[in-house]
Amino acid sequence: MADRHDSGGTGNGQARDTRPGAPADGTRNTAAGDEPRERSSEASSGETDETADRAATARRDAALLAKVRAAPVLAGELPRFDPASAPAAPGELFADWLEQALDEGVPEPHVMTLSTAGADGAPDARVLVLRGIDSAACAYAFATDTRSAKARDLAANPAAALTWYWPAHGRQIRVAGRVEVCGAEAARRDLLGRSPRSRAAVFAGPMSAPLSGPQEYDRALERARETVAAEPNRVPATHALYRLVADRAEFWQADPRRFHLRLRYTRQAAGGWRRELLWP
Ligand SMILES: Cc1cc2nc3c(=O)[nH]c(=O)nc-3n(C[C@H](O)[C@H](O)[C@H](O)COP(=O)(O)O)c2cc1C
Repeated sequence: MADRHDSGGTGNGQARDTRPGAPADGTRNTAAGDEPRERSSEASSGETDETADRAATARRDAALLAKVRAAPVLAGELPRFDPASAPAAPGELFADWLEQALDEGVPEPHVMTLSTAGADGAPDARVLVLRGIDSAACAYAFATDTRSAKARDLAANPAAALTWYWPAHGRQIRVAGRVEVCGAEAARRDLLGRSPRSRAAVFAGPMSAPLSGPQEYDRALERARETVAAEPNRVPATHALYRLVADRAEFWQADPRRFHLRLRYTRQAAGGWRRELLWP
């Protein structure tokens, strides 16, 4: 990957100033206290630098916040959603919304956030690709390394949540439930359905473990490519497909007049789903 080899330089032999408060064009920031200073002593010049850096950081934060506040949210033409005619079960509504997102070119609608909390209760979240849909069970699958941090979280606490956000449609879907590990056959099908490049990345190394540097990764990836070429049907025991079976699902539709809609489904012990609107 080219970005792994980037020196971070500007290409003209001068390092770009990337400190907080530095101008985006990489020029020196004289306003932020970068002028050469008279240094009366190590300690006082250290303090001055620190104060100037803090002030520059605060100025940059303020400028960033102004940009954030000016950035549009939920803008443009949005699809309509009528909760009164929503299906009785959330799996069908998820499939309808995902299909519409795919058909209408919403960018990467199959990318979702998985939230977990491990044995210590500390939450964590990361982005994954949707790799299985079971609408009848309202279950959604993802693939990962069983040595990863999320896999450790899930082994200790299978309660988890998935979130999708499709800005172009002003839609958010949240599902929560328990995660189960699918069998070896499901993991095999998932891996062997991928390109050799994607398979090699799975073989490369223990996800979430510390990496000494790009060279270590490059060497591991090279070995992994050789393994995939020599044994195209091999599946590492550490590759697993997981699925989250939802017992709650919420569909959020933005409205240009800010009359946002929230429809929550809750799985009932006796079977079926309860549906209710929530205050937005
Ligand atoms: C767009 C995108 C898609 C990703 N898809 C996956 C995926 O399908 N499986 C996966 O394990 N990690 C995927 N990742 C990487 C994860 O976000 C995360 O860095 C990795 O799984 C390690 O997370 P953990 O340390 O919490 O276990 C993806 C990242 C991005 C930005």
